[in-house]
Amino acid sequence: MADQSQPGAGTLSVWAGEAKNNWWGATQVPVVHSVAYGYPDVDHWQDAALGRTPGHIYSRNTNPTVAAFTEKVRVLEGAEAATSFATGMAAISNTLFALLSPGDRVVSVKDTYGGTNKLFLQFLPRMNFAVELCATTDHAAIEAAIAQGCRVLYLESPTNPTLKVVDIARLAKAAHQVGAIVVADNTFATPINQNPLALGVDLVLHSATKFLGGHADALGGVVCGAQRLVDQAYHYREITGAALDPMAAYLLLRGMKTLHLRIRQQNASAMEIAQFLAAQPQVSQVFYPGLASHEHHDVARRQMRGFGGVLSFMLKGGFDAVRAFLPRLRYAHLAANLGAVETIAGPPATTSHVECTAEERKAMGIPEGLIRYSVGIEDTADLIADLQQAFGPNKSASTSGRLAA
Ligand SMILES: Cc1ncc(COP(=O)(O)O)c(C=O)c1O
Repeated sequence: MADQSQPGAGTLSVWAGEAKNNWWGATQVPVVHSVAYGYPDVDHWQDAALGRTPGHIYSRNTNPTVAAFTEKVRVLEGAEAATSFATGMAAISNTLFALLSPGDRVVSVKDTYGGTNKLFLQFLPRMNFAVELCATTDHAAIEAAIAQGCRVLYLESPTNPTLKVVDIARLAKAAHQVGAIVVADNTFATPINQNPLALGVDLVLHSATKFLGGHADALGGVVCGAQRLVDQAYHYREITGAALDPMAAYLLLRGMKTLHLRIRQQNASAMEIAQFLAAQPQVSQVFYPGLASHEHHDVARRQMRGFGGVLSFMLKGGFDAVRAFLPRLRYAHLAANLGAVETIAGPPATTSHVECTAEERKAMGIPEGLIRYSVGIEDTADLIADLQQAFGPNKSASTSGRLAA
C-alpha cells in the first residue's frame, strides 16, 4: 500500500521544486536570465553571499530557475542535497574531479557510457588518478578490486548500451568497508524506476538530457546526495564553470512534470518490444533487464521498480544488417540520443561509443551488430508493427498473433 504520509512519484514529479513564489502568482517557474542579483545595501548583499539569508548572487553559482529544477530531482531521488551542471558529462567529470586527489584510485566497470569510459581511460590517468575497470557483471572481481582500496566506486546500472545490471547494494557495502565513496549513474533507470541512494550509494547522478527532460531539447546534468559531498561537487562546478543554463533548466523542469507518465509508458512498451524482438528469427540476442533471460534479472527485480525504456538487440547479419535495417524504421530517429518522447535507434558505433575504436568496443564486449533502441511514448502496437515491417516479409507465425493482441 502507498505510504500516505509521502506523496507518490507522480505528485512529486509535478509539484516538487515548484514552490509558490512571489512572481505575480505565475503558476509556472519563471526563466530568470539575469546574470547577477542586486541588493539594496552591502549588508543584505553580504548576508545572501554568505548563505545567512536566501538569495542569489551570480548565475554561474546559483539561479532561481536552475534551483527549481535541481530541487525537483533532489526530492525524487530522496536526497539531502543536489546540484546541477551544463551536461551529464559535466556532472560526472566535475563530481570525480571534486572527490579525487592525485594518487587516488577509482574502481568501476568496463561498460559505462562511452564518454565516462574515455574519462576513465584518458583523462583521469593523465592526472595521476589510478583507474581499475572490472568486468561489469563479475561481482566477485569488483569486490576484489574494491578490497585493494579505492577512494571512489563508480557504477552505472543499467549500462549503456548493453543494459547490464550490477547489484548496487552489494557493491556499495563492499566499498563502504574500505571507506570509499560510491557514485552511481542513474540515467537509464530514472528515479521513477530506481533510487540508488536507498540502495546505499552516496551520490547519484544523471544526464538530465535523457529521460529527466524527456524531449531531446535541452542538455543538463545533476548530482544528488549528502550535503557534504554535493557541496564539494557544487564548489568545483561554480569555480570551473559548467553551469546549467536557465532556459535549459526550465525545459528540463517542464519535461519532468510528465516523467512518471512517460516512464510508465516506456517501461511497458519496452517490455513488450523486448519480448517481440526475442521471438524474431533475425535477432540473435535481446538485452533488457525485464526479460527473465537477462543475466541479472533477479538483481534488477530486487532493485528496480520498472526496467526502463531502453533495450538493445543484436542482428544476426552483423553491422551490414544493422545498416540495412535502421533506415527502414518509420517511427524512430536515427540519432545519438535516448530517453525522449520519440523512439530513437542507432548502433553504439555512432551513438554511445562513437568516441571508441572498433577494438575498444570489442574489448568492452559491445558487438558491432548491436542496435540500441530507446522506446518513445508512441503506441506500442505501432512500434512493434514498425519493427516488424523493417524486418521485412520474413515474419515468424508465432509472433504475428501476439502482435494483434
Ligand atoms: C548513461 C549516461 N550517462 C551520461 C551521459 C552523458 O550525458 P550528456 O550527453 O548530457 O553529457 C550519457 C549520454 O548519453 C549517458 O547515456
